[in-house]
Amino acid sequence: MPENKNNPDIEVSHGANGIDSTILANLAKEYGTPLLVMSENRLIDNYQRLESAFKKNYGNIAIKYAIKANSNPAIIRTLSGLGAGMDASSVPEIEIALGAGVDRNRIMFSPNYASRSELEFALNAGLVINFDDIGQFRMLSDIGVPDCVSFRLNPGFGKGEFPGITLSGPESKFGIPTSHILEAYKAAKDSGVKRFGMHMMCGSNVLDAEYFAIITSKILDSAGALKSKLGITPEFIDIGGGFGVPYKPEEKPLDIQKTAELVSREFKEKSEKYGLGGLQLMMEPGRYIVADTTVLLGTVNYIKEYEKMFIGTDIGMNLLLRPALYGAYHDISVITKPGAKASITADVVGEVCENTDAIARNRMLPRVSAGDIISVANSGAYVYGMSSQYNGRPRPAEVMVKSDGNTVLIRRRETTKDLLSTTVI
Ligand SMILES: Cc1ncc(COP(=O)(O)O)c(C=O)c1O
Repeated sequence: MPENKNNPDIEVSHGANGIDSTILANLAKEYGTPLLVMSENRLIDNYQRLESAFKKNYGNIAIKYAIKANSNPAIIRTLSGLGAGMDASSVPEIEIALGAGVDRNRIMFSPNYASRSELEFALNAGLVINFDDIGQFRMLSDIGVPDCVSFRLNPGFGKGEFPGITLSGPESKFGIPTSHILEAYKAAKDSGVKRFGMHMMCGSNVLDAEYFAIITSKILDSAGALKSKLGITPEFIDIGGGFGVPYKPEEKPLDIQKTAELVSREFKEKSEKYGLGGLQLMMEPGRYIVADTTVLLGTVNYIKEYEKMFIGTDIGMNLLLRPALYGAYHDISVITKPGAKASITADVVGEVCENTDAIARNRMLPRVSAGDIISVANSGAYVYGMSSQYNGRPRPAEVMVKSDGNTVLIRRRETTKDLLSTTVI
């Protein structure tokens, strides 16, 4: 069997979550499809691998899980129990984290273009806020001064698997350019802020270890200028998330040990150079922790075969948006045809009335029939969270296979009643 791309010690099929296909097929029968099946073991393993890689190289780290990747409270609770803090991008995400029992002093707020009321909520909750711009900080000037302030640096370049997830550079809507970052800190200092951090998030799904050292070096240069020009010593430097996972069969996993070594070396050297002792190295990973914990199970409804073959399933862009949004690739296996060789090429489509409604294009697969169950890998990150009820499709159930082997329902399937629950006739 091919190895798990994130952890070569675990043997599973590419991008899958290590749960046996017979168990998956039984879960599909029990709960129906579409269904998201998460492995708690894999979740714990991913978090601990990341944490131990960095801890080995730099003692003072903080991992804030980016809730936007997957906001199911069961995941948040498990990660919080392992020691993770949380990074929220909206007030509802803050509320989800608080509801899952996360202590408020472990929640950070990193919004962009936020409304005054959202910023006020975070201020009153006493959260550290990563402000996307100085104007966002000023929006609170008549309400109060946050205890600890951090601004998001846009270092002028970024990297992501797709343009849509490349999050810094001159065309990006995020952060403050290097040339203006000190003005923001000066304004905050002049307003009476006493404690500071610095933040960036340059792009998502990056598999290149060296890149993380390059962006770390960049943010440390700005932190150095903060010290020399304004006399501010930040308490933490947040290098964002972005640690990638392989989606395509030919992709190699991010070498997380090497990433941690290179980032920590740069962090230590530059913080020493600039006299920034005691700095905490913070990060906000989402995808790396949850992507390969989950597979999405679907049923083949109908097959159409003329010049081109279309395999129609109950998984469409309403549920798995990433292929339509970015052209993203997700590995697909047919779990009811174990061992079958790929012999056909087809588009795998959903039931939505859009021609962008495909989860795979020209994909080689075993010949399938109506009723076969397919499993879509790497469905733990940015899948449920990006799903919609378009075409009147209720969102699916989520189950977690616990470390002890028991399966628990962590979100029930929506119903038509849920679809109508906010409407008024
Ligand atoms: C501010 C911020 N932090 C963290 C993340 C998580 O990124 P990833 O899932 O690539 O680790 C994102 C994702 O877009 C983000 O915008």
